[in-house]
Amino acid sequence: MGKGRPRSPFSRAEEFNAKVGTHLPILLAPMASVSPPSLSAAVANAGGMGACGAVLMTPEEIRSWAEEFRRLSDGPFQINLWIPDPSPVRDARLEERQREFLGRWGPVVPAEMGDAVLPNFEAQCEAILAVKPRAISSIMGVYSSAFVAEMKARDILWLATATTVPEARAAEEAGADAIIAQGMEAGGHRGAFDAAKAETGMIGLMALLPQTCDAVSVPVIAAGGIADGRAVAAALVLGASAVQIGTGFLRAPEAKIPSAYADRLARTEAHDTMLTRAFSGRAGRSVRTGYVEAAASADAPPPAPYPVQRGLTRLMREEAARTNDAERMQLWAGQAARFAEAKSAAAIVHDLWGDAFPYLR
Ligand SMILES: Cc1cc2nc3c(=O)[nH]c(=O)nc-3n(C[C@H](O)[C@H](O)[C@H](O)COP(=O)(O)O)c2cc1C
Repeated sequence: MGKGRPRSPFSRAEEFNAKVGTHLPILLAPMASVSPPSLSAAVANAGGMGACGAVLMTPEEIRSWAEEFRRLSDGPFQINLWIPDPSPVRDARLEERQREFLGRWGPVVPAEMGDAVLPNFEAQCEAILAVKPRAISSIMGVYSSAFVAEMKARDILWLATATTVPEARAAEEAGADAIIAQGMEAGGHRGAFDAAKAETGMIGLMALLPQTCDAVSVPVIAAGGIADGRAVAAALVLGASAVQIGTGFLRAPEAKIPSAYADRLARTEAHDTMLTRAFSGRAGRSVRTGYVEAAASADAPPPAPYPVQRGLTRLMREEAARTNDAERMQLWAGQAARFAEAKSAAAIVHDLWGDAFPYLR
């Protein structure tokens, strides 16, 4: 059960709670574009930890997010960034085929939509340090040693996502204070350090979690397909110190997602999700919608690299959101979407822990 980590699930959870300032070992997952302060504050006020998925946010937006959170809660939160990929290799012919294909699913896509520009990573990092959250998390790689030193100097914890044991070891060596073991069940983008290996390195949480716990000394947070008390208990028994949940919170009113998204989640069974690069160019788990299935068909053009594909799909995604059309919307969802309930985030936290408790006694 890992070096130096308590054997009892309760002791591990208590040690983790004391370290991060939570009362319950339940973390909201950072979810880019679905991170309203209202949801984070509700989770933190219920005893868990809030989260901001900041990859697409400007420094000013990050500052306002933290201000709004702090107006609503004095609990802990994490801010999350994606470690940037190298610049994409563009292929004009492929982008033209993509634009033609996407034009059948939404508005005409002008060529310049592929020139998607991401917010400046260094400026985001500076803004996050200045905001001083309890934790900063990473996905798709590790932070530079200079940035890790800045976090440590401010007593900010680093929670590093890993999808394999070697990634977990690399993150611990780079100074991570805890590893988020992201199983392949997880909704949203996969955290594989090497984007090209996202589809081949698919490890379920049941196998990934205990092996990660054996490989590292720092606490391990379990993520992916956890959305009810049984799964919370199972993760803690397998060695986790806490759980991190995304999809399970999406139907809470505080998440403010479009009604078509929330309704579709309620009908999504484990086999109704699939991995796709069709929205962003990076692999992520989505509901199996009409667009996602069509994009995976043999005659569809391959996706452009990240973030070009994200730019190319923008008009379709915006129109889908405007018209509440689930078939074209970006519906990230994990394999336990079926358990996401339409009740307040506080009730979700409360029930997750209440239902896990009897299994842990
Ligand atoms: C809508 C959505 C957006 C996400 N965005 C991010 C993100 O920006 N950064 C990140 O580290 N993980 C992101 N994730 C992955 C979550 O952090 C987490 O690994 C996942 O939600 C856990 O699986 P679950 O959805 O089955 O609970 C996202 C997940 C969802 C559902």
